[in-house]
Amino acid sequence: MISLTIPRVALRAAAPSRQFAAAANGSVRGVKTLTEAVGEVIPKKREELAQLKSSSADKSLGEVKVSNLLGGMRGLKIMLWEGSVLDANTGITFHGKTIPDCEKELPNAKDLGLGGKEMLPESMLWLLLTGNVPSNEEVKQLSAELAAKGKLPSFVEKIIDSFPKTLHPMTQFAAAVGALNHDSAFAAAYTKGIKKTEYWQPTLEDSIDLVAKLPAIAARIYYNVFGKGDGQQKIDTSKDLIGNYAEMIGYGGNEGLTDYLRLYIAIHGDHEGGNVSAHTAHLVGSALSDPYLSYSAALLGLAGPLHGLANQEVLGWALGMQDKVGPNASHEQIKEYLWDTLKSGRVVPGYGHAVLRRPDPRFTALSRFCDDRPELQQSSIVQLVKKVSEVAPGVLKEHGKTANPFPNVDAASGCVLHEYGLSEFRYYTVIFGISRAIGALPQLVMDRALGLPIERPKSMSIAALNKHLGNN
Ligand SMILES: CC(C)(COP(=O)(O)OP(=O)(O)OC[C@H]1O[C@@H](n2cnc3c(N)ncnc32)[C@H](O)[C@@H]1OP(=O)(O)O)[C@@H](O)C(=O)NCCC(=O)NCCS
Repeated sequence: MISLTIPRVALRAAAPSRQFAAAANGSVRGVKTLTEAVGEVIPKKREELAQLKSSSADKSLGEVKVSNLLGGMRGLKIMLWEGSVLDANTGITFHGKTIPDCEKELPNAKDLGLGGKEMLPESMLWLLLTGNVPSNEEVKQLSAELAAKGKLPSFVEKIIDSFPKTLHPMTQFAAAVGALNHDSAFAAAYTKGIKKTEYWQPTLEDSIDLVAKLPAIAARIYYNVFGKGDGQQKIDTSKDLIGNYAEMIGYGGNEGLTDYLRLYIAIHGDHEGGNVSAHTAHLVGSALSDPYLSYSAALLGLAGPLHGLANQEVLGWALGMQDKVGPNASHEQIKEYLWDTLKSGRVVPGYGHAVLRRPDPRFTALSRFCDDRPELQQSSIVQLVKKVSEVAPGVLKEHGKTANPFPNVDAASGCVLHEYGLSEFRYYTVIFGISRAIGALPQLVMDRALGLPIERPKSMSIAALNKHLGNN
């Protein structure tokens, strides 16, 4: 049951203090800053939660079966998550908007006069935090704010540079993000004794700061491990978040890759709350750990092969197939390779999903990107991945185990990076890690704004379960 301790008078007093709002960013007349926009939506959210609690706190959301407890809590409705909802059959929606809706409505690279035409992660961040579509000017202002905050403190650069190249990039990523808590506004405000109703303000301040710095961390790791990019953090305030990131990793002149990264990072941001990375950020944050600590923990979950690491596995698997059967594999050869994988006891990477029961709309969006780009239509690896998506569902259905035999987003994501020359697939989950912050951090802000309690589900041993169930 949700325990809400915010007094009613505080429900209305959510707008950021004048001092905080001014410090966050100087807004242009008529154009809201993100902090101002979030401050406007919080009172309504608090009212909605208070009403839900008073009208429905004792209503049931379904029974908990032993199979739920033993089966990774699949399907249990046990978390509040505002940004997105995942439907098994229709896929993800962000505040009710499908990916095609977002592609139409959210300000994109073209709207801001940048090279390219894909939606901007900044627009998605705004939508996830506020539920509203920002104007072009608001996104432009947010991009400039992120650029201004994008440079790393030198001690974080030194931490990254001291890691052995052999340390997995995701381990480096989580450590660097955790170290940023040195300057956490939330941790400092909490130590000073900030009021609970104001927790969301420094949480948002840290979250914006972290989103701003993730590209520079990721670029420094790329430089440290693969020696690419120039190791500098030249951030141009006239560029968007991903335009600067592409520049820092040495692909600034590659418009196709830059635009692909925008789309990739926008659509990987949020996938409701129960996935490992998002849930981890929420769980760790529920102990009032600051956004840096919470998101550092989330990245370590993202590093698992059944979650974010799958995109690197897909590419390795697909390139292995290409090596074995040549660049123009027939449907029959692909079928054989799929069966060899399954018979050896491995999963087919990029297929299946814990919740979805249809092809992943994120896969569809990335496939659309490939169809739009002549250079990708000629790519043998992109074409192979496409052919696999035609054959694999039939094979997986015949195999008979997988609840969802269709491609998930990872089936396509890595091969496009590879085709554009970003071929270090040990690095791919880092790009996912830049993205997931755009979904996980807005919920942390909401958690604090709504005064949600520390998460503490009940666990049971096998003996306790048997006793409870009356088994001998
Ligand atoms: C995503 C994933 C972890 C979901 O797991 P899940 O919710 O347990 O999936 P299911 O309920 O469909 O699993 C039922 C069985 O089918 C198997 N299965 C699921 N996806 C499979 C796949 N792609 N290839 C082969 N077998 C698969 C499972 O391993 C499980 O076998 P088991 O009963 O022997 O343990 C799983 O589909 C998977 O491992 N996919 C490949 C990795 C991947 O693409 N991950 C990225 C996800 S976005």
